[in-house]
Amino acid sequence: MRFAETSLQSRRFLNAIPATLRRNFAGIDLPLRRHPFDTWQNVLKKCTFSPAFRRIAKVFTRIPCYNCGMNTYPDLRLSRLRKTEGIRAMFDLEVPSPAKWCWPTFVVPGANIREEISSMPGQFRYSPDTLLKGVEAVVNQGIGSVLLFGQTDHPKDNGGSQAWNDAGAVQQAVRLLKREFPQLTIMTDVCLCAYTDHGHCAPLRPDGSLDHDAACLCLAKTALSHAAAGADVVAPSAMMDGQIAAIRSALTENAFQNTLLMAYSTKFASACYGPFRDAEGSAPRARPGMPSDRKSYQASYANPRNALMESILDEAEGADILMVKPALFYLDMIRAVREKTLLPVAAYNVSGEYAMLIAMAERGWGDLGDLVRESTMSIVRAGSDLIISYWASQYQRFFGKNC
Ligand code: PBG
Ligand code: ZN
Repeated sequence: MRFAETSLQSRRFLNAIPATLRRNFAGIDLPLRRHPFDTWQNVLKKCTFSPAFRRIAKVFTRIPCYNCGMNTYPDLRLSRLRKTEGIRAMFDLEVPSPAKWCWPTFVVPGANIREEISSMPGQFRYSPDTLLKGVEAVVNQGIGSVLLFGQTDHPKDNGGSQAWNDAGAVQQAVRLLKREFPQLTIMTDVCLCAYTDHGHCAPLRPDGSLDHDAACLCLAKTALSHAAAGADVVAPSAMMDGQIAAIRSALTENAFQNTLLMAYSTKFASACYGPFRDAEGSAPRARPGMPSDRKSYQASYANPRNALMESILDEAEGADILMVKPALFYLDMIRAVREKTLLPVAAYNVSGEYAMLIAMAERGWGDLGDLVRESTMSIVRAGSDLIISYWASQYQRFFGKNC
């Protein structure tokens, strides 16, 4: 009797469902309500809700899922899938294995140097010799690649000519690392800002304007000298028009056709690079006709179509890997680039994003490990293939078995 009544109630419900959906249930005596209707009425009667509220509550608690015909609450409780650590682990996304991470780090000329960067606790400037030790610790955690940033102790000039000095710190470091860790993928940042006397990423014309075309030549020379030293991947970050085409053709013409080209394709003029510029001494200075920011060449965070176009063009110019940078403030752009290309997409979790989590944890406003894990997963969800992050050097601490 009770069952028949339930079944009747279910049918009445089914009749309220559009015919197309109803067809899915035709012929099946679905026990749509395992909780008989009158049970709910009784529950509601016992409560002190007004009749109007009861009417609404009745509707809401009896809406069957239009997909499977199953009722939602109280039958369906999503928290069941989160109940225990074991159940959560079954369905949670995995943190990418260390092979999918890249560790950016800093090389300075000299020997026996390993100085902590004050705005990036836990990150260091290394001379080529000590870099080996730093990289060894990272390789031992399984990290697949490193991205090297260089500096010079020679005088800086307008064109940043020390960037393509074959005896420069980066070039030296690449040769050493290549010999010591043949299985490690070695990437180099290709830019001029650490080598120009004004800190901009390109030579300036006498009127102060930025010379994109001249920069392309300088960047191509720099990329070639990195490739000649043995870099597996060159990564131009200057955001100059045509830089990918210029570097790709220089590589091809000089028999480096197997060197990968990772474009910092959508790189924003961000306020999150402060600690990095500290580490590199590469903050842009104002000149007559040129302000002390990079807004005229790096992408504008308020113009997402223009920023997306940068990645599309870099693909057309011959990039092998595209990149969105920074990562956390630009998760939508990671997703947008992901949906526009079949190339791999890298996300650069930059210095300011690193420092801000540390600053928060230092003030006792959050647990560093939890912050690192949560923010990392947002980059994964956004759709990146490669995570370029300073956290890579602490992979085991934050993502190892017992954390
Ligand atoms: C140089 C360069 C910058 C970063 C990578 N390459 C700084 C800038 O554009 O001023 C930023 C990296 C970071 O903040 O971690 N063009
Ligand atoms: Zn630069």
